[in-house]
Amino acid sequence: MSGDWSNPVTVAEMYGDWDYDAAVAALDRSLSPRPSVAIFDVVAALGVGPGDVVLDIGGREGEHALLMAERFGCRAISVDPVPANNDRGRVLVAAHEFGRLVELRPGSIEQIPADDASVRLVFARDMLGHIEDLELALSECRRVLAPGGHMVVFEVFATPMLHPDEERRLCADTATVPERLSVANFEATVAATGFSVERLDVLGSEHVEASQEAGTAPNYLLQVSRLRRDRERLLDELGETTYRVMYGNALWSIYRLIGKLESRIYVLCGGERNAARRA
Ligand SMILES: C[S@@+](CC[C@H](N)C(=O)[O-])C[C@H]1O[C@@H](n2cnc3c(N)ncnc32)[C@H](O)[C@@H]1O
Repeated sequence: MSGDWSNPVTVAEMYGDWDYDAAVAALDRSLSPRPSVAIFDVVAALGVGPGDVVLDIGGREGEHALLMAERFGCRAISVDPVPANNDRGRVLVAAHEFGRLVELRPGSIEQIPADDASVRLVFARDMLGHIEDLELALSECRRVLAPGGHMVVFEVFATPMLHPDEERRLCADTATVPERLSVANFEATVAATGFSVERLDVLGSEHVEASQEAGTAPNYLLQVSRLRRDRERLLDELGETTYRVMYGNALWSIYRLIGKLESRIYVLCGGERNAARRA
């Protein structure tokens, strides 16, 4: 295949001697995409266990902090700046079997409510996109890491297939800072803050494929179609913010599926700064 589309398929080829049903069957075969919870295997590989403290920054309602407490027996601190997240989180944590290991602290990545060198792992899943000053944010993460500690980052980045107009709309509707979609910007800031990349998994579309296959995510294409066709009524019913966020989130997942966005997991190491400071 040329890739520059200068060699069009002919009508004779398009309707020629090939088996449509066999092609559909080939595309029905799963590629065994990794689900989003596979990120906790990355945490497991770092050896997190009882006695460790992990920090879930941008932890929303503490769901992942609870998951890590349950799986690893560690203590987990979940930090989030949005009062509604913390309110819902308190109910969730109080009702959970492993809630005694989890603490919710209102706060932000720009000023993490934790002592220097106090956590074994900083877990930042799908939240750095909201951050204006990434250098400040990563420096704060490094400050709280104990010697030998790691930071696990899950983030979604733009690929060259994302058009600037698409990027503008997507960022505006999902409270995303455009620079945060840049791999080059992220990796330069990682280096500038003294972290180094220990491991990188480029997941591409896997998480969204997995949730589509499992039937645990909505049909994003259908959502966009309805948001477009019934715009005025849905704007009236849902309100402008909900309408825009639902539209943005659906596009976000569709773009991940079709390669305009790709997800990545970085394991960063940076706890040495604190080792040096203590020595
Ligand atoms: C897409 S959600 C991800 C939540 C969770 N980490 C997850 O993976 O499901 C982004 C989260 O980042 C939080 N957030 C936004 N700005 C933040 C900041 N400056 N510091 C810490 N968290 C922030 C939001 O409140 C929200 O809970």
